[in-house]
Amino acid sequence: MIIENTTTKPRVLVFDTTLRDGEQSPGCSMNLEEKLRIARLLDDMGVDIIEAGFPIASPGDFEAVNEIAKVIKRATVCGLSRAIERDIDVAGEALKPAQNRRIHTFISTSPQHMRYQLQMDEEQVLESIVGSVTRARKYTDNVEWSAMDATRSDWDFLCKAIDTAIKCGANTINIPDTVGYAVPTEFAELITYIRNNVTDIDKAIISVHCHNDLGLAVANSLSGVMAGARQIECTINGIGERAGNAALEEVVMALKTRNDRMPFECGIDTSMIMKASRTLSNTIGFNVQPNKAIVGANAFAHESGIHQDGVLKNASTYEIMTPESVGLTRSELVLGKHSGRHALKSRVAELGYELGDNALNDLFKRFKDLADKKKLVLDEDIIALIEDEAATQDDAIRFLSLQIQAGTKCPQVAELELTIEGATKSITVEGNGPVDAIFKAIRTLVPHDESALQLYQVHAITGGTDAQAEVTVRLAEGARTFNGQGTDADTLVASARAYIHALNKLMANRAKAKAA
Ligand code: KIV
Ligand code: ZN
Repeated sequence: MIIENTTTKPRVLVFDTTLRDGEQSPGCSMNLEEKLRIARLLDDMGVDIIEAGFPIASPGDFEAVNEIAKVIKRATVCGLSRAIERDIDVAGEALKPAQNRRIHTFISTSPQHMRYQLQMDEEQVLESIVGSVTRARKYTDNVEWSAMDATRSDWDFLCKAIDTAIKCGANTINIPDTVGYAVPTEFAELITYIRNNVTDIDKAIISVHCHNDLGLAVANSLSGVMAGARQIECTINGIGERAGNAALEEVVMALKTRNDRMPFECGIDTSMIMKASRTLSNTIGFNVQPNKAIVGANAFAHESGIHQDGVLKNASTYEIMTPESVGLTRSELVLGKHSGRHALKSRVAELGYELGDNALNDLFKRFKDLADKKKLVLDEDIIALIEDEAATQDDAIRFLSLQIQAGTKCPQVAELELTIEGATKSITVEGNGPVDAIFKAIRTLVPHDESALQLYQVHAITGGTDAQAEVTVRLAEGARTFNGQGTDADTLVASARAYIHALNKLMANRAKAKAA
């Protein structure tokens, strides 16, 4: 089925899998509150389908899909399941509260996967498709079926499998390039082949799900759309298994910017792209590379003299899309230490955030502290502070103060003050360097010996030596990882904040596991 809607241009559905394919990749795990926050953002952005997780994978995954299903009212909420009865039942259960729900079930169709992973022959795979799609239809009439490793499958067997899925009631047929092996011309040929060789293909929407192992995920996805696919599966910042999935922001901006060549429409509010990218980066502690298309720090920066000269004369000389179209505002009003609460409030609103009075008061206090240290407070600084405050507002362990003794002439000592569930605790600890001293101090005040520090990363939010530091800390306990971020003009304070943020998540997870 190709959706030709009321406008003249065909609609391409945006299926976001940040919370499933993205979240399952190393270092990208999120807790329930974080998943809900991302889901709400995706909904506000206009994503058509939110793949909220893989409910059978763990009780946490089930809960996340279930909670997202309760709160998301516009987008369709989707849950993944293997071609296994129990998976489908659990997905059906998790999605029950959703206003609009979809079950996404998959099985591999390539010789490699069927032989080595599934140990099934073609007949068994076809039987499994009948069983899984039929069962999924008991829970919803919106069923997506995926042929895992489709691009390495025998095309005729793939068509047979698709035909079977459609006959059993699947109305979205997803063609994943699971291992990122396809090239754009070949992928388009495959979609065309499917359209020409599956009798009832018009009863379903063809979807594409491309991985980026050869850096071709976006090109393959768009090539698939040009050949007749009408759903693209993608993730914010392109996160996902191995090299990731097609990046939502790249797919959407390519469709918008080159609408002359790709005359399709999609429902995404592109001015929310930067916010979505930053919120995700802050949540998982993965900053995108500076030269990343659309959302990288340099994506709209012009460094060379010739380019700067051109842009100053007319932006169209070197800009194929405006920074504003992706939500990068060029602030006319620069904030500094003389700026008041009102100026901050309107800047926050222009940046697309809505803060209550308490949150604004907290932000204003941190803004003033920063403005004392940094001459100009830029949009990036304000966003980092907002994200930092939002991420830590419910934390039981909170940073109060830090005094450091460091350098070559004395031992490195951290004097740290925290509140733990409202009670103030302080300690002075010596370490091998100031960061070691801080982390030891936290470990002493809140013992958590079973966990290990997996990542410590410092990133400057803007240029200049007075830039705020954004620190990421990842703690690992068992199979789970907990990312924390901290922002401050003082790198050591940011380090303490980041560690405490990760520790709060770890402790909350322990408490939840104990209560269960
Ligand atoms: O890459 C893949 O094949 C998948 C499927 C589960 C759709 O993620
Ligand atoms: Zn995938």
